[in-house]
Amino acid sequence: MDIVGKIVSGDFSGIIIRQKTGIDVELGELLVTKEKNGYFILQVFDISYGSQIPERIRSLAAGLKLEEESNLSFLDNELSNFILIILKPILFVNPNRYHLPKKLPKFFSEVERIKEEDLRFLDRPKKPLYFGKIRSGSRVLEIEVFLKGEEVLTHHVLISASTGKGKSNLVKVLTYNLLNENYAGLLVIDPHDEYYGRTKKGLKDHPNAINKVVYYSTNPPPGASTLVLDLKTIKPWHLTGIVSLTEAQIECIYLFYNRDKDNWIENIILAEKDDKVSVVTLDVLKRKFNNIFGISSENGVISFRNNLFSNSSGISTIKNVVDCLENGKTVILDTSKLGGEVELLIGGIFAEGIFSRYRDLSFKGHLQNKPCISIIIEEAPRVLGKDVLDKGTNIFGTIAREGRKFKVGLVAITQLPSLIPKEILANMNTKIIMGTEMSNERSALIESSPQDISEESRNIASLDIGEALLTSTFSKLAVPLKIPLFEDIFTKNKSFVKDKTTIRGVDLE
Ligand SMILES: Nc1ncnc2c1ncn2[C@@H]1O[C@H](COP(=O)(O)OP(=O)(O)OP(=O)(O)O)[C@@H](O)[C@H]1O
Ligand SMILES: [Mg+2]
Repeated sequence: MDIVGKIVSGDFSGIIIRQKTGIDVELGELLVTKEKNGYFILQVFDISYGSQIPERIRSLAAGLKLEEESNLSFLDNELSNFILIILKPILFVNPNRYHLPKKLPKFFSEVERIKEEDLRFLDRPKKPLYFGKIRSGSRVLEIEVFLKGEEVLTHHVLISASTGKGKSNLVKVLTYNLLNENYAGLLVIDPHDEYYGRTKKGLKDHPNAINKVVYYSTNPPPGASTLVLDLKTIKPWHLTGIVSLTEAQIECIYLFYNRDKDNWIENIILAEKDDKVSVVTLDVLKRKFNNIFGISSENGVISFRNNLFSNSSGISTIKNVVDCLENGKTVILDTSKLGGEVELLIGGIFAEGIFSRYRDLSFKGHLQNKPCISIIIEEAPRVLGKDVLDKGTNIFGTIAREGRKFKVGLVAITQLPSLIPKEILANMNTKIIMGTEMSNERSALIESSPQDISEESRNIASLDIGEALLTSTFSKLAVPLKIPLFEDIFTKNKSFVKDKTTIRGVDLE
């Protein structure tokens, strides 16, 4: 047994153990104490010094030892001076079930390090969503963590960390493993073109990629689809809450839209003047549309600056993407070549397509057997920030508030969760918190977490790259995680293929 100490005092908010000499215990480590009918799982949230010797005498003795040669051996005495570890009881496990502890472990009980077999009760649900392995401090245990994927995805996920702590790697791991399942369609809005794996390993390298991964880009590699949208598929409500518009401009847009629902953008571009709209408003809109859609006119002839928007192709792009998602595929939109506002507009257009399709299916009673759809969005405060939503809601705000009813959820990635309104943060029922140095960001996360993680602030600040804390309404406890490095999946897969090769006697390589 790997005993680390014995319980000496404390209460429900913190159980204090005296650490055994020569043992090292880290913040965040998981420990267990066994009883007759089950065992407690406890987590280290603080560590301090303890001593039998009064402080005054310790200071004096330390001074004497420092300043002159003396043999004060009682100072080094391990019986009188020791380390105290403060633990939070997080779970009680007995053979039949596990629950939050409602009693304290026995006084003077021995506390030991957790082992894999102490966590075997965590089973793999149906429709699993894989997160990584359980971590005890910085030790990784061979226990894989899965939650009920459909529920987690439709109730929104927040992934939060300072830059470089491993958010994108985590998303690669989540989405790659989801390609093994059929219960979810994923729309990945990818501003850094890092998920498909155009130049290195990515989702395209999954064995199911050929059937399940669809890649849209403005400069697609062979076999991928071209990201192009016909202006006829753009509606005025795609712009609101994403492009900043005055009331006069919105009125003008709807006026032209109601006159001609297909050609309203081109008609605004071509309009010299209009009885109901001021020339200034028209001019500003022309400039804005030029910026966003790359459209302009000269002598009554329309031209496009780039090939993202068009008046001759891309009429079925939105429909095709939503069809793929409805069939449980993963659609990656490479938005790396688009400006920030255009990227959000494109993301919003597809999000709107998904939401309205699923809302219709729900009203017709056909939603039940459909996969859920999750939309992954980087730097989420750009569409879910307080300042943005104060100006009027957008499709992402709508999905955050009511998408769950229609099986549509968000995976919002951010470095700055404090910018997202509290009410929306609280609606994100699963949070994967990775290393976060800034204390106001940690507070925003802790306050809105499904589990009480108020003691975890220090742990969160000290999380290393790839380490995370998973809090979720679909988990009984906040789970410390280590996310695998995405590239490592392939070294494992390779050996898997090799095994198969030998079994079947066929040389696949
Ligand atoms: N789980 C992990 N294990 C080991 N190394 C990792 C892990 N996750 C990330 N890394 C390393 O850290 C680097 C940065 O990770 P990543 O790009 O995922 O961070 P990020 O949080 O998305 O950063 P940014 O804020 O810049 O988008 C990776 O290139 C990888 O080398
Ligand atoms: Mg990233």
